[in-house]
Amino acid sequence: MLGAFPKTRPRRLRQAPFIRELVRETRVSPGNLVQPLFVAEGALAGPIAAMPGCTRLTLEALALEARRLVELGIPAIALFPVIPQALKSDRGEEALNPDGLVPRAIAVVKAAAPTLGVIVDIALDPYTTHGHDGLLDANGAVDNDATVEVLRKQALAYARAGADVVAPSDMMDGRIGEIRRVLERDGLHDVLILSYAAKYASAFYGPFRDAVGSSANLGKSGKQTYQMDPANTDEALREVALDLAEGADMVMVKPGMPYLDIIRRVKTEFGVPVAAYQVSGEYSMMKAAAAQGMLDERAVLMEALTCLHRGGADIIFTYYAAQAAEWLREQTR
Ligand code: PBG
Repeated sequence: MLGAFPKTRPRRLRQAPFIRELVRETRVSPGNLVQPLFVAEGALAGPIAAMPGCTRLTLEALALEARRLVELGIPAIALFPVIPQALKSDRGEEALNPDGLVPRAIAVVKAAAPTLGVIVDIALDPYTTHGHDGLLDANGAVDNDATVEVLRKQALAYARAGADVVAPSDMMDGRIGEIRRVLERDGLHDVLILSYAAKYASAFYGPFRDAVGSSANLGKSGKQTYQMDPANTDEALREVALDLAEGADMVMVKPGMPYLDIIRRVKTEFGVPVAAYQVSGEYSMMKAAAAQGMLDERAVLMEALTCLHRGGADIIFTYYAAQAAEWLREQTR
């Protein structure tokens, strides 16, 4: 099909903006992006040192931000609560409080911006004194089945509070099936499940754990007994297959850019909606390099988002979502 040089000169298709525009295969738009937002009350609200430009929003600020995101064309947010130490416990009971921060934040967003999709994280780490996503057994190991029982209640509580999408990020076995079962039983047929199906035990989550205040609690202990080994790829496909069979509507690969091969394999093998999470470490690396004048922030971000989309991510979680939407808007003017 390809003729030899000079009949075929690939550079002809790159010679000027008009032709590059016409043959471009991938375009990221604000419609692909999800904005993660941290919410906090009282003294916990404010800027996040490890993530320059990100803030723990009060509920009042959350309402304003929700409206701004709708104007920018961002379809959905992902809520992450910052819970005061006094409300944390070893069993994370605050996660089930129907008047807790997440249910109230959902109500605030739905009142301020009814069309904005609300995705909530299902996991216990914001609520536990030990910083793990689940409950510990007598030996200090994360107890899978006991955790699933709590996660199922947490998902139901947040779905009842009006969340459009529940996103279990805990990596327990069997939790998608249990969550789907109780949602159906409760008549919540339309609540979507976005499973963090291939979530790796990654050092790139460092700044996030500072943002939600779980890193001190977690201490030296890691999440390797439930999150995946970064060295594995076939295992990601098995995780995705299980979560889809159990009732997930969409699956996530996390982190983003270092895991493009996983994103591509999942997209090619399953053909379902795939989300990629450009995580806190990816964000902070770009911010830090830009602040030092080492990288062009806008160009690097747009390239990273394009690559995630090209790699197979329909949906991209990025702390840069609002900023990217603004830049994309300028570009098309
Ligand atoms: C917790 C959770 C984490 C992130 C999203 N949900 C951190 C973790 O697993 O320790 C990471 C997000 C990021 O780094 O941006 N269940």
